[in-house]
Amino acid sequence: SLAARREARPRRGRRGGGAPARVAVRERVATAVGDLSYRVDATGFWQVHRDAPAALVDAVLAAARPEPGQRVVDLYSGAGLFTLPLARAVGEGGRVDAVEVNDRAVKDARRNLHDSPQATLHVAGVTAAVVEGLGSGVDAVVLDPPRSGAGTQVMTALTELRPGRIVYVACDPAALARDLRTAVDHGYDVTALTGYDLFPHTHHVECVAVLEPRSS
Ligand SMILES: C[S@@+](CC[C@H](N)C(=O)[O-])C[C@H]1O[C@@H](n2cnc3c(N)ncnc32)[C@H](O)[C@@H]1O
Repeated sequence: SLAARREARPRRGRRGGGAPARVAVRERVATAVGDLSYRVDATGFWQVHRDAPAALVDAVLAAARPEPGQRVVDLYSGAGLFTLPLARAVGEGGRVDAVEVNDRAVKDARRNLHDSPQATLHVAGVTAAVVEGLGSGVDAVVLDPPRSGAGTQVMTALTELRPGRIVYVACDPAALARDLRTAVDHGYDVTALTGYDLFPHTHHVECVAVLEPRSS
């Protein structure tokens, strides 16, 4: 369940008069996803549909299968929607590296993950070099890029990390298809693909795709 609260307070102003009171909206919104709580910059990214965060967190955890002690990478991580449950799942003996270009989103993520020393938050654009810099021994990668997708170079670098699972959350099916093609060309199979109607009454559909290394 999701409880969003916009923190608003009326500004001091003239009483009476006919003019409507001006309301100053504070910069952050507090929200909950199950027993996880987040604060998100009012100008930053957050899933639009009120049930989307919980649905996507469940889908990502089921697909990434993070275990205590494992190493997980969360790319395009925003305010930490997936980073927080992934960090909880790998525990203090594990490690989550999250990469996000928007420094205000990372600032929120730092607050949201202040109790999770196993999470390392990187303020950076996701590039092939950044992915290569994450090193080896990655068990699972979660990525949730913007509509343009991750692109050939990033997808190729991801497959070279050889994670056991790549979980791709996508808001643009065409960009997803292009990126899946790259992964398939580099030894991965699409083992699950689920559509979510997170933008009802529009043609938009959110997808979660799972890639696993081809066994033969
Ligand atoms: C679809 S949102 C997903 C955020 C988060 N996973 C969530 O569900 O709340 C995409 C995120 O990618 C970030 N982003 C866009 N381009 C990026 C890039 N080149 N490198 C890293 N992050 C980027 C955006 O700032 C945004 O937070």
